[in-house]
Amino acid sequence: MTTPSLKTLSVKGNNHFDQEDWSSSYANVDKEFESIELTKIKGEIPKGLSGTLFRNGPGRMERNGQWIHHPFDGDGMITAISFSNGEVSFSNKFVETQAWKEEEKAGKFLYRGVFGTQKPGGILANIFNTRLKNIANTNVIKLGDELLALWEAANPYALDPLTLETIGISTLNGLLKTSESFSAHPRFDPGHHTYPKLVTFGVKPGPISTIRLMEFSTEGEDKGKLISERNDKFKGFAFLHDFAITPNWAIFLQNAISFNPIPFLLGRKSAAQCLSTDTNNTSKFWLIPRESGKFAKQNPRIIDAQEGFVFHHLNSWEDNEDIIIESIYYDHFPSIDKDEDFRQINFDLIPEGRLKRSRINLADKSSKTDLISEQCCEFAMVNPMKQGLSARFSWMAVAENKRGNGPLQAIKKLDLLNGNCCFWSAAPRGFVSEPMMVPEPNSNLEDKGWILVVIWNGLRRGSDLVILNATNLEEVATLELPIGIPHGLHGSWVKGT
Ligand code: CO
Repeated sequence: MTTPSLKTLSVKGNNHFDQEDWSSSYANVDKEFESIELTKIKGEIPKGLSGTLFRNGPGRMERNGQWIHHPFDGDGMITAISFSNGEVSFSNKFVETQAWKEEEKAGKFLYRGVFGTQKPGGILANIFNTRLKNIANTNVIKLGDELLALWEAANPYALDPLTLETIGISTLNGLLKTSESFSAHPRFDPGHHTYPKLVTFGVKPGPISTIRLMEFSTEGEDKGKLISERNDKFKGFAFLHDFAITPNWAIFLQNAISFNPIPFLLGRKSAAQCLSTDTNNTSKFWLIPRESGKFAKQNPRIIDAQEGFVFHHLNSWEDNEDIIIESIYYDHFPSIDKDEDFRQINFDLIPEGRLKRSRINLADKSSKTDLISEQCCEFAMVNPMKQGLSARFSWMAVAENKRGNGPLQAIKKLDLLNGNCCFWSAAPRGFVSEPMMVPEPNSNLEDKGWILVVIWNGLRRGSDLVILNATNLEEVATLELPIGIPHGLHGSWVKGT
């Protein structure tokens, strides 16, 4: 990848957006609010919408004039938007991690970031410094009574669900060892085996990698407690961000990625910059039997997968003996090299994500992958009650154009059965983040409910929450938020709080 000059970065090609509208989202969040009422509302808040949208993402971009190198290196800031009887309140707070507190006090960066942020002082300050910062910025979920800010390479941080105050690093009551990895991509099983669960994992990467698969109760007296776990070893350096579940399987896609730690140890590159697509190897599906399923205690299955790179999966389900999994594929691993500025990234030079469907045949240990949709997409989800089951509809963030790469500017509803779709767009001056599908209570219709999406409004240089009708993506309400939120990562919906 080459660094494009500023001149090439204005509105170009087919992309109808202004680079500065997009990059202006990346600024330090300098205010925190606790339960303030939101009143700048266009439209009406649906009465049936009752619960809290929690979101996480980078909130601190710069210290003492030094910018982070990649937005994934920004300290986690939690946003909570609560709905009750047509009223809505807003809170936001940084996760006060150990490193956050130290850096606040010092007024400068003290740690290296996984994605390229170096300590000030050049190579000498970074050489052999492998102490990374747990920035707790990737997702936020409720497990039992605790709200957890997640970052996949270390323990979660526990937060007070009402005030968002940081309680501290959590071992989940001794379940996790210090610094043990805990994925930022749990999957909520809506009740495949009679009652709902949270399924998640941790990875210990190395020449032989270990996956620890864990299932937690989410209801009743046992909520938050571990129900089952298993540990499986796989050959190769595991780079696993997300996974998928079906009633019987946990499904991982091991991308063909190699890791050369030398430049990292020498302080020249970040850990993520030492990853590259490994052309000598093939990607693999690693299928681990779930403890509550019919293959419990059996060995994992390993099956070759199509080349490409995947961060996120949409959904997975079982079709007789086959497993179907839908994933967002990139042609190769996208990283930001050390001389590039992420705010000036040229979208035309990096691969776009495209939705593909793989059919895994367990009997003959083969898989076949087909393109579902050409349009650049990310952050796709189905109705949460369809998690792990065959779903007809999905909602995702997409680029404005039907082909090529571009910033995420629209929401698409895709009918997975017939390919029909409808759109809501924030273009040309707005940019979307991960859409959250909230089903309407007491409805059996899969696409009945709302889509909640935080957008960056380039026109007023601030953030809005947009509520869409999930059936047709018509705008129901737009709420002006009191802070600007940098383009974010993941979040969750918690009913009735
Ligand atoms: Co993710």
